Amino acid sequence: GRPLRVGIAGLGTVGASVIQILDRQNEVVAQRGGRPVEVVAVSARDRAKDRGFDLTGFTWFDDPVALAKSADVDCVVELVGGSEGTALETVRTALSLGKHVVTANKALLAKHGLALAKLAEEKGVSLAFEASVAGGIPVIKVLCEALPGNKVSRLYGILNGTCNYILSRMELEGLTFAECLKDAQRLGYAEADPTFDVEGFDTAHKLAILTSLAFGTQVDADAIYVEGISSITPLDLSMASELGFRIKLLGVAERTETGIEQRVHPTMVPKSSAIAQVMGVTNAVTIDADAVKELTLIGPGAGGDATASAVVADIADVASGKAEPPFGRPVGHLEKAPRAPMQRHEGGYYIRLT
Ligand code: NDP
Ligand code: HSE
Repeated sequence: GRPLRVGIAGLGTVGASVIQILDRQNEVVAQRGGRPVEVVAVSARDRAKDRGFDLTGFTWFDDPVALAKSADVDCVVELVGGSEGTALETVRTALSLGKHVVTANKALLAKHGLALAKLAEEKGVSLAFEASVAGGIPVIKVLCEALPGNKVSRLYGILNGTCNYILSRMELEGLTFAECLKDAQRLGYAEADPTFDVEGFDTAHKLAILTSLAFGTQVDADAIYVEGISSITPLDLSMASELGFRIKLLGVAERTETGIEQRVHPTMVPKSSAIAQVMGVTNAVTIDADAVKELTLIGPGAGGDATASAVVADIADVASGKAEPPFGRPVGHLEKAPRAPMQRHEGGYYIRLT
Protein backbone atom coordinates (compact mmCIF):
# COMPACT_ATOMS: atom_id res chain seq x y z
CA GLY A 1 0.00 0.00 0.00
CA ARG A 2 0.82 3.68 0.01
CA PRO A 3 3.48 4.49 2.62
CA LEU A 4 2.48 6.23 5.84
CA ARG A 5 4.43 9.50 5.78
CA VAL A 6 5.51 10.43 9.29
CA GLY A 7 6.68 13.79 10.60
CA ILE A 8 8.55 13.79 13.91
CA ALA A 9 8.24 16.97 15.97
CA GLY A 10 10.89 16.95 18.70
CA LEU A 11 14.23 15.18 18.35
CA GLY A 12 15.26 14.98 22.00
CA THR A 13 15.56 11.87 24.17
CA VAL A 14 12.43 10.22 22.78
CA GLY A 15 12.35 11.65 19.25
CA ALA A 16 15.92 10.59 18.49
CA SER A 17 15.21 7.05 19.71
CA VAL A 18 12.06 6.85 17.58
CA ILE A 19 14.06 7.69 14.45
CA GLN A 20 16.66 5.06 15.24
CA ILE A 21 14.17 2.32 16.15
CA LEU A 22 12.01 3.01 13.07
CA ASP A 23 15.17 2.68 11.01
CA ARG A 24 16.28 -0.67 12.42
CA GLN A 25 12.77 -2.17 12.76
CA ASN A 26 11.42 -0.77 9.52
CA GLU A 27 10.48 -4.09 7.97
CA VAL A 28 8.68 -5.41 11.04
CA VAL A 29 6.80 -2.14 11.49
CA ALA A 30 5.75 -2.22 7.82
CA GLN A 31 4.56 -5.82 8.17
CA ARG A 32 2.59 -4.94 11.29
CA GLY A 33 1.16 -1.80 9.73
CA GLY A 34 0.43 -3.45 6.40
CA ARG A 35 2.35 -0.77 4.49
CA PRO A 36 5.73 0.99 4.57
CA VAL A 37 6.36 3.68 7.17
CA GLU A 38 8.60 6.54 6.08
CA VAL A 39 9.88 9.41 8.19
CA VAL A 40 9.71 12.33 5.77
CA ALA A 41 9.98 15.39 8.02
CA VAL A 42 11.48 16.40 11.36
CA SER A 43 11.42 19.46 13.59
CA ALA A 44 13.39 20.72 16.59
CA ARG A 45 14.78 24.02 17.82
CA ASP A 46 18.43 23.69 16.88
CA ARG A 47 19.18 22.45 13.41
CA ALA A 48 22.94 22.39 14.03
CA LYS A 49 22.82 20.08 17.08
CA ASP A 50 24.54 16.72 16.62
CA ARG A 51 21.85 14.11 17.32
CA GLY A 52 23.88 11.04 16.49
CA PHE A 53 22.19 10.39 13.15
CA ASP A 54 22.03 11.88 9.69
CA LEU A 55 19.28 14.46 9.14
CA THR A 56 19.72 14.66 5.37
CA GLY A 57 16.81 12.98 3.68
CA PHE A 58 14.29 14.52 6.08
CA THR A 59 12.61 17.84 5.38
CA TRP A 60 13.57 20.15 8.25
CA PHE A 61 11.09 22.47 9.98
CA ASP A 62 12.10 25.01 12.62
CA ASP A 63 8.47 25.12 13.67
CA PRO A 64 6.56 21.92 14.56
CA VAL A 65 3.28 23.63 13.61
CA ALA A 66 4.61 24.11 10.06
CA LEU A 67 5.54 20.41 10.02
CA ALA A 68 1.97 19.60 11.06
CA LYS A 69 0.67 21.68 8.14
CA SER A 70 2.96 20.07 5.57
CA ALA A 71 1.04 18.34 2.81
CA ASP A 72 3.72 15.63 2.77
CA VAL A 73 2.92 14.45 6.30
CA ASP A 74 0.07 12.00 7.11
CA CYS A 75 0.97 11.32 10.74
CA VAL A 76 2.47 13.80 13.21
CA VAL A 77 4.48 12.40 16.11
CA GLU A 78 4.54 15.06 18.81
CA LEU A 79 7.58 14.69 21.10
CA VAL A 80 8.12 18.34 21.98
CA GLY A 81 6.45 18.41 25.41
CA GLY A 82 4.42 20.95 27.38
CA SER A 83 0.67 21.25 27.85
CA GLU A 84 0.30 24.55 26.00
CA GLY A 85 2.04 26.53 23.28
CA THR A 86 3.88 24.68 20.55
CA ALA A 87 2.85 21.14 21.49
CA LEU A 88 -0.85 21.98 21.80
CA GLU A 89 -0.82 24.01 18.61
CA THR A 90 0.98 21.24 16.73
CA VAL A 91 -1.45 18.52 17.80
CA ARG A 92 -4.52 20.68 17.25
CA THR A 93 -3.35 21.74 13.81
CA ALA A 94 -2.57 18.18 12.75
CA LEU A 95 -5.93 16.80 13.91
CA SER A 96 -7.85 19.73 12.41
CA LEU A 97 -6.24 18.97 9.07
CA GLY A 98 -7.28 15.32 9.34
CA LYS A 99 -3.85 13.95 10.17
CA HIS A 100 -3.15 11.20 12.66
CA VAL A 101 -1.28 12.10 15.82
CA VAL A 102 0.96 10.01 18.04
CA THR A 103 2.22 11.65 21.23
CA ALA A 104 4.03 10.89 24.49
CA ASN A 105 2.78 14.10 26.07
CA LYS A 106 0.87 13.27 29.24
CA ALA A 107 0.78 16.90 30.43
CA LEU A 108 -1.06 17.83 27.23
CA LEU A 109 -3.49 14.91 27.46
CA ALA A 110 -4.25 15.44 31.15
CA LYS A 111 -5.31 18.98 30.35
CA HIS A 112 -6.69 18.86 26.81
CA GLY A 113 -7.17 15.13 26.21
CA LEU A 114 -10.96 15.23 26.04
CA ALA A 115 -11.11 18.13 23.57
CA LEU A 116 -8.37 16.63 21.41
CA ALA A 117 -10.04 13.20 21.43
CA LYS A 118 -13.27 14.87 20.33
CA LEU A 119 -11.47 16.59 17.48
CA ALA A 120 -9.81 13.33 16.42
CA GLU A 121 -13.19 11.58 16.42
CA GLU A 122 -14.82 14.33 14.38
CA LYS A 123 -12.02 14.09 11.82
CA GLY A 124 -11.96 10.28 11.84
CA VAL A 125 -8.25 10.10 12.64
CA SER A 126 -6.16 8.45 15.35
CA LEU A 127 -4.85 10.12 18.47
CA ALA A 128 -2.56 7.56 20.07
CA PHE A 129 -0.61 8.03 23.29
CA GLU A 130 0.72 4.71 24.57
CA ALA A 131 4.07 6.33 25.43
CA SER A 132 2.47 8.98 27.63
CA VAL A 133 2.03 6.63 30.59
CA ALA A 134 4.68 4.37 32.11
CA GLY A 135 7.18 4.57 29.22
CA GLY A 136 7.65 1.15 27.67
CA ILE A 137 4.78 -0.60 29.50
CA PRO A 138 1.83 -1.09 27.08
CA VAL A 139 -0.70 -0.29 29.80
CA ILE A 140 -2.96 1.83 27.59
CA LYS A 141 -3.39 -1.00 25.09
CA VAL A 142 -4.17 -3.36 27.97
CA LEU A 143 -6.82 -1.02 29.41
CA CYS A 144 -8.36 -0.21 26.00
CA GLU A 145 -8.29 -3.63 24.41
CA ALA A 146 -7.74 -6.45 26.85
CA LEU A 147 -10.30 -5.97 29.62
CA PRO A 148 -13.83 -5.58 28.20
CA GLY A 149 -14.92 -8.43 30.47
CA ASN A 150 -14.02 -6.49 33.56
CA LYS A 151 -15.26 -3.78 35.84
CA VAL A 152 -12.21 -2.11 37.32
CA SER A 153 -12.44 -1.24 41.00
CA ARG A 154 -8.98 0.19 41.58
CA LEU A 155 -5.77 1.01 39.78
CA TYR A 156 -2.50 2.03 41.38
CA GLY A 157 1.15 2.14 40.63
CA ILE A 158 4.56 3.68 40.37
CA LEU A 159 4.14 5.96 37.37
CA ASN A 160 7.20 8.19 37.49
CA GLY A 161 10.60 6.68 36.66
CA THR A 162 12.55 9.69 37.92
CA CYS A 163 11.02 9.56 41.40
CA ASN A 164 11.41 5.82 41.76
CA TYR A 165 15.01 6.10 40.57
CA ILE A 166 15.71 8.84 43.12
CA LEU A 167 14.05 7.04 46.04
CA SER A 168 15.79 3.75 45.15
CA ARG A 169 19.27 5.21 44.97
CA MET A 170 18.81 7.38 48.05
CA GLU A 171 17.81 4.30 50.03
CA LEU A 172 20.25 1.74 48.64
CA GLU A 173 23.29 3.90 47.94
CA GLY A 174 22.89 6.69 50.46
CA LEU A 175 23.13 9.38 47.76
CA THR A 176 21.53 12.78 48.18
CA PHE A 177 18.29 13.78 46.51
CA ALA A 178 20.14 16.34 44.37
CA GLU A 179 22.76 13.81 43.14
CA CYS A 180 20.08 11.30 42.15
CA LEU A 181 17.98 13.91 40.35
CA LYS A 182 21.03 15.06 38.41
CA ASP A 183 21.67 11.49 37.23
CA ALA A 184 18.01 11.04 36.27
CA GLN A 185 18.29 14.17 34.15
CA ARG A 186 21.56 13.02 32.56
CA LEU A 187 19.95 9.69 31.66
CA GLY A 188 17.01 11.43 29.96
CA TYR A 189 14.38 10.27 32.48
CA ALA A 190 13.33 13.63 33.90
CA GLU A 191 10.94 16.17 32.42
CA ALA A 192 12.39 19.38 30.93
CA ASP A 193 11.23 20.98 34.20
CA PRO A 194 11.91 18.26 36.82
CA THR A 195 9.51 19.92 39.25
CA PHE A 196 6.83 18.01 37.36
CA ASP A 197 8.51 14.75 38.39
CA VAL A 198 9.49 15.42 41.99
CA GLU A 199 6.35 17.33 43.00
CA GLY A 200 4.10 14.53 41.74
CA PHE A 201 2.45 16.38 38.85
CA ASP A 202 3.76 14.01 36.19
CA THR A 203 2.37 11.05 38.14
CA ALA A 204 -0.93 12.93 38.39
CA HIS A 205 -1.04 13.55 34.64
CA LYS A 206 -0.53 9.84 33.99
CA LEU A 207 -3.01 8.83 36.66
CA ALA A 208 -5.64 11.12 35.11
CA ILE A 209 -5.22 9.32 31.78
CA LEU A 210 -5.31 5.82 33.31
CA THR A 211 -8.34 6.68 35.45
CA SER A 212 -10.26 7.74 32.37
CA LEU A 213 -9.40 4.52 30.56
CA ALA A 214 -10.00 2.24 33.53
CA PHE A 215 -13.33 3.69 34.65
CA GLY A 216 -14.70 5.10 31.40
CA THR A 217 -14.74 8.61 32.84
CA GLN A 218 -13.73 12.01 31.51
CA VAL A 219 -10.13 12.97 32.28
CA ASP A 220 -10.19 15.03 35.46
CA ALA A 221 -6.65 15.92 36.53
CA ASP A 222 -7.83 18.76 38.76
CA ALA A 223 -9.56 16.23 40.99
CA ILE A 224 -6.28 14.64 42.04
CA TYR A 225 -4.73 15.19 45.45
CA VAL A 226 -1.00 15.64 44.71
CA GLU A 227 2.02 15.43 46.97
CA GLY A 228 5.53 14.73 45.65
CA ILE A 229 8.79 13.44 47.06
CA SER A 230 10.85 16.63 47.37
CA SER A 231 10.58 16.67 51.16
CA ILE A 232 11.53 12.99 51.64
CA THR A 233 14.85 12.78 53.48
CA PRO A 234 17.37 9.93 53.88
CA LEU A 235 16.17 9.75 57.49
CA ASP A 236 12.58 9.11 56.35
CA LEU A 237 13.81 6.28 54.15
CA SER A 238 15.96 4.66 56.84
CA MET A 239 13.24 4.95 59.48
CA ALA A 240 10.73 3.41 57.10
CA SER A 241 13.25 0.65 56.39
CA GLU A 242 13.74 -0.10 60.08
CA LEU A 243 10.00 -0.52 60.40
CA GLY A 244 9.99 -2.92 57.42
CA PHE A 245 8.72 -0.46 54.80
CA ARG A 246 9.84 1.30 51.64
CA ILE A 247 8.59 4.69 50.52
CA LYS A 248 7.16 4.79 46.99
CA LEU A 249 5.46 7.60 45.14
CA LEU A 250 2.14 6.06 44.13
CA GLY A 251 -0.74 7.15 41.98
CA VAL A 252 -3.99 5.58 43.17
CA ALA A 253 -7.45 5.69 41.60
CA GLU A 254 -10.37 3.93 43.21
CA ARG A 255 -14.07 3.68 42.57
CA THR A 256 -15.86 4.44 45.83
CA GLU A 257 -19.54 4.72 46.73
CA THR A 258 -19.43 8.47 46.17
CA GLY A 259 -17.38 8.62 42.97
CA ILE A 260 -13.78 8.28 41.82
CA GLU A 261 -10.99 8.97 44.25
CA GLN A 262 -7.63 9.93 42.73
CA ARG A 263 -4.46 10.63 44.71
CA VAL A 264 -0.70 10.88 44.34
CA HIS A 265 1.56 10.79 47.38
CA PRO A 266 4.56 9.06 48.96
CA THR A 267 3.34 5.83 50.53
CA MET A 268 4.90 3.39 52.99
CA VAL A 269 4.65 -0.09 51.47
CA PRO A 270 5.74 -3.29 53.26
CA LYS A 271 9.14 -4.45 51.98
CA SER A 272 7.63 -7.88 51.37
CA SER A 273 5.01 -6.51 48.94
CA ALA A 274 5.47 -6.85 45.17
CA ILE A 275 5.43 -3.11 44.62
CA ALA A 276 8.29 -2.60 47.09
CA GLN A 277 10.51 -4.74 44.84
CA VAL A 278 10.10 -2.31 41.94
CA MET A 279 13.34 -0.32 41.97
CA GLY A 280 15.11 2.22 39.80
CA VAL A 281 13.49 3.69 36.70
CA THR A 282 11.05 0.76 36.57
CA ASN A 283 7.32 1.48 36.77
CA ALA A 284 4.48 -0.82 37.84
CA VAL A 285 0.73 -0.63 37.37
CA THR A 286 -1.73 -2.88 39.19
CA ILE A 287 -5.32 -3.15 38.00
CA ASP A 288 -7.90 -4.63 40.38
CA ALA A 289 -10.94 -5.84 38.46
CA ASP A 290 -13.82 -8.23 39.05
CA ALA A 291 -13.02 -10.93 36.49
CA VAL A 292 -9.24 -10.91 36.17
CA LYS A 293 -8.88 -10.05 39.88
CA GLU A 294 -5.40 -8.53 39.99
CA LEU A 295 -3.18 -7.74 37.03
CA THR A 296 0.24 -6.12 37.36
CA LEU A 297 2.41 -4.77 34.57
CA ILE A 298 6.05 -3.96 35.29
CA GLY A 299 8.63 -2.39 33.00
CA PRO A 300 10.82 0.58 32.18
CA GLY A 301 9.00 3.81 32.97
CA ALA A 302 11.21 6.32 31.19
CA GLY A 303 14.18 6.67 28.87
CA GLY A 304 14.52 7.16 25.13
CA ASP A 305 14.39 3.62 23.77
CA ALA A 306 11.76 2.27 26.17
CA THR A 307 9.46 5.18 25.46
CA ALA A 308 10.16 5.04 21.73
CA SER A 309 9.15 1.37 21.81
CA ALA A 310 5.62 2.52 22.71
CA VAL A 311 5.65 5.37 20.16
CA VAL A 312 6.65 2.97 17.39
CA ALA A 313 3.82 0.58 18.33
CA ASP A 314 1.36 3.46 17.97
CA ILE A 315 2.84 4.40 14.58
CA ALA A 316 2.36 0.80 13.40
CA ASP A 317 -1.27 0.93 14.61
CA VAL A 318 -1.83 4.16 12.69
CA ALA A 319 -0.31 2.61 9.56
CA SER A 320 -2.67 -0.36 9.88
CA GLY A 321 -5.65 2.00 9.86
CA LYS A 322 -6.78 0.87 13.27
CA ALA A 323 -8.47 4.06 14.53
CA GLU A 324 -9.80 3.28 17.99
CA PRO A 325 -11.47 6.05 20.00
CA PRO A 326 -8.53 7.67 21.86
CA PHE A 327 -9.91 7.00 25.36
CA GLY A 328 -11.12 3.50 24.62
CA ARG A 329 -14.73 4.54 23.93
CA PRO A 330 -16.32 7.49 22.13
CA VAL A 331 -15.97 10.78 24.01
CA GLY A 332 -19.76 11.03 24.31
CA HIS A 333 -19.77 7.80 26.31
CA LEU A 334 -17.21 8.98 28.87
CA GLU A 335 -19.02 9.53 32.12
CA LYS A 336 -18.46 12.69 34.15
CA ALA A 337 -17.90 10.93 37.45
CA PRO A 338 -18.25 12.70 40.77
CA ARG A 339 -14.99 13.32 42.61
CA ALA A 340 -14.78 11.31 45.81
CA PRO A 341 -12.98 12.98 48.69
CA MET A 342 -9.68 11.35 49.58
CA GLN A 343 -10.06 8.83 52.33
CA ARG A 344 -7.56 9.53 55.08
CA HIS A 345 -6.35 6.81 57.36
CA GLU A 346 -4.77 6.88 60.75
CA GLY A 347 -1.03 7.35 60.36
CA GLY A 348 -1.20 9.00 56.94
CA TYR A 349 -1.91 8.00 53.37
CA TYR A 350 -2.47 4.40 52.96
CA ILE A 351 -2.97 1.68 50.42
CA ARG A 352 -4.50 -1.68 51.09
CA LEU A 353 -2.24 -4.32 49.55
CA THR A 354 -3.19 -7.94 49.15
P1 NDP B 1 13.56 16.54 25.22
O1 NDP B 1 13.63 17.81 25.99
O2 NDP B 1 14.73 15.65 25.25
O3 NDP B 1 13.23 16.86 23.68
C1 NDP B 1 12.34 17.85 23.29
C2 NDP B 1 12.55 18.12 21.81
O4 NDP B 1 11.60 19.08 21.38
C3 NDP B 1 13.93 18.68 21.47
O5 NDP B 1 14.40 18.08 20.30
C4 NDP B 1 13.68 20.17 21.24
O6 NDP B 1 14.56 20.75 20.28
C5 NDP B 1 12.27 20.14 20.69
N1 NDP B 1 11.56 21.39 20.99
C6 NDP B 1 11.20 21.89 22.19
N2 NDP B 1 10.54 23.04 22.04
C7 NDP B 1 10.47 23.28 20.72
C8 NDP B 1 9.93 24.32 19.93
N3 NDP B 1 9.30 25.36 20.49
N4 NDP B 1 10.06 24.24 18.60
C9 NDP B 1 10.70 23.21 18.01
N5 NDP B 1 11.21 22.18 18.71
C10 NDP B 1 11.12 22.22 20.04
O7 NDP B 1 12.25 15.81 25.71
P2 NDP B 1 11.93 14.24 25.76
O8 NDP B 1 12.31 13.59 24.49
O9 NDP B 1 12.45 13.69 27.03
O10 NDP B 1 10.35 14.27 25.92
C11 NDP B 1 9.49 14.54 24.84
C12 NDP B 1 8.05 14.25 25.26
O11 NDP B 1 7.95 12.89 25.66
C13 NDP B 1 7.55 15.07 26.45
O12 NDP B 1 6.19 15.30 26.31
C14 NDP B 1 7.80 14.14 27.64
O13 NDP B 1 6.95 14.40 28.72
C15 NDP B 1 7.45 12.82 26.99
N6 NDP B 1 8.03 11.63 27.61
C16 NDP B 1 9.37 11.55 27.86
C17 NDP B 1 9.92 10.41 28.40
C18 NDP B 1 11.38 10.28 28.71
O14 NDP B 1 11.77 9.25 29.29
N7 NDP B 1 12.21 11.24 28.36
C19 NDP B 1 9.09 9.25 28.68
C20 NDP B 1 7.68 9.40 28.34
C21 NDP B 1 7.20 10.57 27.83
P3 NDP B 1 16.15 20.82 20.50
O15 NDP B 1 16.65 19.41 20.54
O16 NDP B 1 16.67 21.54 19.28
O17 NDP B 1 16.36 21.55 21.77
N1 HSE C 1 9.78 12.11 33.45
C1 HSE C 1 9.00 10.92 33.27
C2 HSE C 1 9.38 9.91 34.31
C3 HSE C 1 9.21 10.38 31.89
O1 HSE C 1 10.44 10.07 34.93
O2 HSE C 1 8.65 8.96 34.52
C4 HSE C 1 8.30 9.23 31.56
O3 HSE C 1 6.99 9.66 31.36
